[in-house]
Amino acid sequence: MSFSRREFIGTAVVGSLAVNLPAQQAAGKRPIIVCANNGYPYLDAGFEFLKSGGDTLDAALRVVKGPEDDANDDSVGLGGLPNEEGVVELDACCMHGPTRRAGSVGGVRNIKNVSLVAKAVMQHTGHVMLVGEGAERFAVAQSFPRENLLTEHSRKIWLLWKEYHSTDDWWGPGLADPQWKPPGSAELWEKRISTLSEMTASVGIEPQRRGSAIRKVLFPPTGTIHCSALNEKGEISGCTTTSGLAYKLPGRVGDSPIIGAGCYTDQEVGSAGATGSGEENIKVAGAHTIVENMRRGMSPQEAGMDTLKRIVRNYNNDMNKLRFMDMTYYILRKDGAYAGVSLWEGYSPSPWEDPQPTPHRIAVHDGTRRAEKTVALFKGYSQEFPPFPRVPEELLAPLKAR
Ligand code: GLY
Repeated sequence: MSFSRREFIGTAVVGSLAVNLPAQQAAGKRPIIVCANNGYPYLDAGFEFLKSGGDTLDAALRVVKGPEDDANDDSVGLGGLPNEEGVVELDACCMHGPTRRAGSVGGVRNIKNVSLVAKAVMQHTGHVMLVGEGAERFAVAQSFPRENLLTEHSRKIWLLWKEYHSTDDWWGPGLADPQWKPPGSAELWEKRISTLSEMTASVGIEPQRRGSAIRKVLFPPTGTIHCSALNEKGEISGCTTTSGLAYKLPGRVGDSPIIGAGCYTDQEVGSAGATGSGEENIKVAGAHTIVENMRRGMSPQEAGMDTLKRIVRNYNNDMNKLRFMDMTYYILRKDGAYAGVSLWEGYSPSPWEDPQPTPHRIAVHDGTRRAEKTVALFKGYSQEFPPFPRVPEELLAPLKAR
C-alpha cells in the first residue's frame, strides 16, 4: 500500500507518523519468548521451561496462564471485564508450529484457562474451533473446573458502566459507519465525568480505584495477552487469550480466537499475535498478514508496520476515527529476530490515574528478561483522556484528591 507522511499530516488531529524508528530486533538469539507486557512477571518461568527442553507451545501457555489466573488482571481469564449482561466470556487460540496444528475457543463462560482449552481442542478433537456452550461442555469433559469468573471489582466496574449508559452502548453503528461522528461537546464531557465520579462512590468502588474505573467505562478496554516461543531447534508456537472487549454484546467474538487474526504461527517463517481493537484486526487478518509479509522477505518490524497501515487504509487515513482505536503486534521470526509495533505510542495519561503516558511494550526473554517500548506508527496516544476538549480543572480537582 502506498503511504506518505504528508497524507497523514494533512488529516492528523492528535497524531503524526512516528519518525526515527529505533532498531528493535535481536540478532537471531534463541531460545526466545516474546509476549504482551502483562506476561512480563511470568516470563522467567516460561523461559526456564523452554530452555530445559519444554515444548514451545507449553512454554507460551505457561506465560499466558499467569494473567488468566490473576484476578487483578481484568483483561484476561478470572476477573476479566464482562459482557453487557455482566457475564465474563473468554476467547483464546493456539498454534503449534512443529506439528502444524491449531486449536481455538470463543465466547466461553465459567472456565478460566481458555488457552489450555484451546490446546485441548487441538489435541483431543478433529476440530479447530469450538464456541459458546459447546466449548464449555467440552472443557468440563476435559476436567477443567467450572467457576465464577466475575470478581467483585469487575462486577462493580460493569455496574458503573451499566448505570451510566442508559443509551450509549455497543448497539447501533460502530466506528466504521460512514455516519459516525466524534463524541460530543465540552459540556457533555464535563457532565459525564462529574456524573461518573459521583457514581463510583455509590456503587462502592474503592477511592484509589475510581479513576481507573471511570476510564474503563468511558473507554472500554480490549486488553489481551499474546505469547510466542522459539526454541534452540527452531521450533516455534504461539497463543493468545482474552476476556475481549469490555461490555460487548453477548456472543461477540473478537480477533483473539481467530486463527490468522489474534495469532498465527508458521513453522517455516515465524509467529505473530495481537492485542487491541479486535474488529480492526480481524479485517486485516493481522497475524497472518504479518507472517506472510515476513515470508516475502520483510523484517518483523516492516511486516508489522505494513499491517498497521492496512488498518489506517481501512479508515481512509481519518485521524478523527483512528485516534479511538489501537493495535499492538508482537512478532517473532524463526531466526529469533523480533519486533513490537503499535498504531499509537501508548495509553494517554489521565489526570488522577497515570500522570505519565504509559507506552505500549513488548516483553522479551532470551536469557535476559526485559520490556521494550514498541515502535509506533503514529506519534501520540490513542483514546486521549480526558478527550477533547479537556475537562476543566475544577472538575478534576476532587478526583485528584481521592
Ligand atoms: N483484542 C481483543 C478483542 O478485541 O477482543
